[in-house]
Amino acid sequence: MKKVRKAVFPVAGLGTRFLPATKAIPKEMLTVVDRPVIQYVVDEAREAGIEHFIFVTGRNKAVIEDHFDIQFELNHTLAQRGKDDQLAKLQRLQPLPGQTSFTRQQEPLGLGHAVWCARELVGDEPFALLLPDMIMQSEKSCMKEMVELYDNTGGNIIAVQECDPAEAHKYGIVGRGEETHNGFRITSMVEKPKQGTAPSNLFINGRYILQPEIFAILESQERGAGNEIQLTDGMLRLEQDQRFFGYHYRGRTFDCGSPEGFVEANVAFALARHDLSAKMAGAIEELLVDMKPAPLQKTG
Ligand code: G1P
Repeated sequence: MKKVRKAVFPVAGLGTRFLPATKAIPKEMLTVVDRPVIQYVVDEAREAGIEHFIFVTGRNKAVIEDHFDIQFELNHTLAQRGKDDQLAKLQRLQPLPGQTSFTRQQEPLGLGHAVWCARELVGDEPFALLLPDMIMQSEKSCMKEMVELYDNTGGNIIAVQECDPAEAHKYGIVGRGEETHNGFRITSMVEKPKQGTAPSNLFINGRYILQPEIFAILESQERGAGNEIQLTDGMLRLEQDQRFFGYHYRGRTFDCGSPEGFVEANVAFALARHDLSAKMAGAIEELLVDMKPAPLQKTG
């Protein structure tokens, strides 16, 4: 069985929910505490043993490539000023030469199309797929757990979490079959099900391990929900030939594609930082005390 060595990050999205912040800055470069969102996702992949990072970008995303490059002048200045901690931090996060690749999704045709754009860079091996809007907070990274499950099961793996059934229409939803080692067989998948038609409340949280056969399928995939080429529709076709397993992730996930998820992520990651947590907790408490209760609605 081939090892999962490569990860794909689809980062071509326009970020319209964050305008005007994302007029000139990619949404993936917005910061949660002091790291850009994309850095969290790349770090998660690295923790899972990924060796090659493939970014599917678009116009106005060049700064993501710069972020993962060495900033020689900055490093030099930090060294001269004796800021060794800062320098070590940058160096720890720095991909090695040749570990990153970038390609462009030239048209916004959907997630399935974005993944297909990475086909030449992935080649004939299984790969991890991490959607950068979703960042996770847990002791062990979600992708690391998935790679461990994959080492036992092979096939394709999708991470899922429970959602409020009223929210199911916003996501891809899977049906739950028999239990396997630390996971379960996936029996059905549907992208953005209409209210009341979802097979469960387990939503796809943006982490996948997929076999390369998905690329040939995506090549001929017709448009689905939202008139976009949907990855979920492609996976459903692949499921006719290959096994799909669900990994039930139980940590926290923040949808940084929405302002409320992004703000919540900032609070959660700040509270988890030993150098910030006490100050932050105090500040939040004060804000809550100052918050005036909303006036009661008069009836009749
Ligand atoms: C995509 C996937 C969906 C998944 C979601 C997680 O949807 O198509 O299956 O549940 O990401 O964020 P999107 O958010 O791009 O509409």
